[in-house]
Amino acid sequence: MAKIIGGITTSHIPAIGIAMDRGLEDTDYWRDFFAGYPPVREWLNEQQPDIAIVFYNDHGLEMFLDKKPTFALGCAPQYENADEGWGIATIPPVTGETELSWHIANELIEHDFDPTICQDIKVDHGLTVPLSLMYPGHKYQHLKVIPVCINCERHPMPKPSRCYAFGQAIGRAVESFAGDQKVVVFGTGGLSHQLDGERAGFINADFDNECMDKLVSDPQALTKYSNDDLIEIGGAQAVELNMWLAMRGCLLGKVREVRRNYVAPISNTGAGMQLLINE
Ligand code: DHB
Ligand code: FE
Repeated sequence: MAKIIGGITTSHIPAIGIAMDRGLEDTDYWRDFFAGYPPVREWLNEQQPDIAIVFYNDHGLEMFLDKKPTFALGCAPQYENADEGWGIATIPPVTGETELSWHIANELIEHDFDPTICQDIKVDHGLTVPLSLMYPGHKYQHLKVIPVCINCERHPMPKPSRCYAFGQAIGRAVESFAGDQKVVVFGTGGLSHQLDGERAGFINADFDNECMDKLVSDPQALTKYSNDDLIEIGGAQAVELNMWLAMRGCLLGKVREVRRNYVAPISNTGAGMQLLINE
């Protein structure tokens, strides 16, 4: 049986990747943000997971408003990034995973979730920035990645409760996979933020901290929110919390918080990070 060893949540803003490429981690602006990550990198280095399931959102690179899967699952041997408007980032392609991916696809459909199955997709900062953050120098190619994409851009979006249940279904699918792989799960993006409109720059740090508390002890409480609630309380892009909820669903049972970091603002976001391990 494949085993989920824990979950990691992190902001995915493109500026993080740029700061690392330019060696700005120890500058006044970035110091507190990057200080959160070495213990998580050490944990990954100790644990040596074989596979990462990464919940992310496609911000319009591959899945634009005209074709927007509610949930999408990557089943490809490799994923490349592409031009998001500033030229193609010169980072290595992400290694895919095909056997567990297809097992998850089959199990999801068997349990009444019907994702779009993707054998050829480009991945954006929502997926690549967290990997580069965990493996500095973009040294993530040893890790087999299963991208799981949740619509956070185009209404109607899947409800927080549904994203949590989707994560649980994936967690159970992993547990039923005949293999001895160690799996880590990422929830990326968030927390409170709004990138445009009248409330551009809006952040709600109290709400962000409450979300991180509840993610550990009572994730069900977060599933009571609607997407409209999240937008009102945390800004238009706070719906990215849904990826954190899907990650938490995957962990299935009780978890222990090993690390947490929170800095706001980083770019336009409340930048949270957590390392949760299965009890
Ligand atoms: C920012 C936040 C995001 O979630 C994103 O996808 C891109 C940029 C930001 O705050 O800069
Ligand atoms: Fe985002």
